[in-house]
Amino acid sequence: MESAIQVEELVKHFGHVHAVDGVSFDVTPGTVFGLLGPNGSGKTTIVRILSTILHPDAGRARVLGRDVVHQADEVRYLIGLAGQFAAIDPNLTGAENLRLTGRLAQLPGRLARTRAYDLLDRFQLRDAADRPARTYSGGMRRRLDVAAALVQRPPIVFLDEPTTGLDLQSRNELWDMIRELVAEGATVLLTTQYLEEADRLADRVAVMSEGRVIASDTPAALKSQLGNTVLEIGLKNEAEAIRAADLLTRATGVKTDREGTLVHLSSADGTRVLLESVQSLNENDLVPTTLTVREPSLDDVFLSLTGQRARTDETDTAEPVARIRR
Ligand SMILES: Nc1ncnc2c1ncn2[C@@H]1O[C@H](COP(=O)(O)OP(=O)(O)OP(=O)(O)O)[C@@H](O)[C@H]1O
Ligand SMILES: [Mg+2]
Repeated sequence: MESAIQVEELVKHFGHVHAVDGVSFDVTPGTVFGLLGPNGSGKTTIVRILSTILHPDAGRARVLGRDVVHQADEVRYLIGLAGQFAAIDPNLTGAENLRLTGRLAQLPGRLARTRAYDLLDRFQLRDAADRPARTYSGGMRRRLDVAAALVQRPPIVFLDEPTTGLDLQSRNELWDMIRELVAEGATVLLTTQYLEEADRLADRVAVMSEGRVIASDTPAALKSQLGNTVLEIGLKNEAEAIRAADLLTRATGVKTDREGTLVHLSSADGTRVLLESVQSLNENDLVPTTLTVREPSLDDVFLSLTGQRARTDETDTAEPVARIRR
């Protein structure tokens, strides 16, 4: 089957910044592809090239077989884009924003109106349809922005950090909507700084670092490479943390990372490591100030792939399974 999106050795430099530095990937039709990476890793630059806003310096990209540089007009007709910063007009109402987008896409007035109201229903914005978008909450704005990308019913949808800054409930609602879109046959490329988001939505993920893809796999494979459970143990002071890290490595056989007073362990064998850790701490009279059990985050993936932490502005969404404080 032909790929929905094909990216080959794409390069884009801004002065000495190698924003995109030889990136290749293929997206299967009817799937969600996640570009996962920290701030400045090149995600938006790739989205802008694919959506014909920016020309690459080298390499090529095709959307449903059309070249994004040489067949840009055709590509524009096939894609919907919800950029990283919402493109809605805050002074227009939700309904007006969507109708305007439809008109700009040259839909007949009536059709633009019907689609606008369908989308408002679907994105749970019907009650707010006639209010100016500036009165919307962050989650409502984000939903309106994604809705605007869908007015044309594009087969390919680009969502650049669709849920950044949203609370968990809004994030979940948007995730459901993205799943529905794909169930109806769309192909979605989304960028995210959250491993959890990629895990929940994407069929495949490319992990980006400084303009390159450093890993490309299914979310499950990426996570299992890391172990499924991350244990974070907070100690009273650094001296205790150093002692604990050493003890825990010996007790569990798992590598520990220490940052200040915090000790991390990640393992596929979470229950055993948790029990052995607690037992060893107890036997050595070390009482943690905090004990957190959670799934791996982008930060953990980064630490494991690059030996460095990801530089993200956002706090990761990887929700603790349990956080216990003394
Ligand atoms: N128009 C531009 N001029 C100069 N540098 C740019 C431009 N656009 C992007 N860059 C640089 O290219 C690099 C990649 O930026 P990009 O916006 O693609 O990253 P990103 O992964 O989307 O980051 P974020 O998660 O913060 O949105 C960054 O170092 C950025 O400063
Ligand atoms: Mg970006």
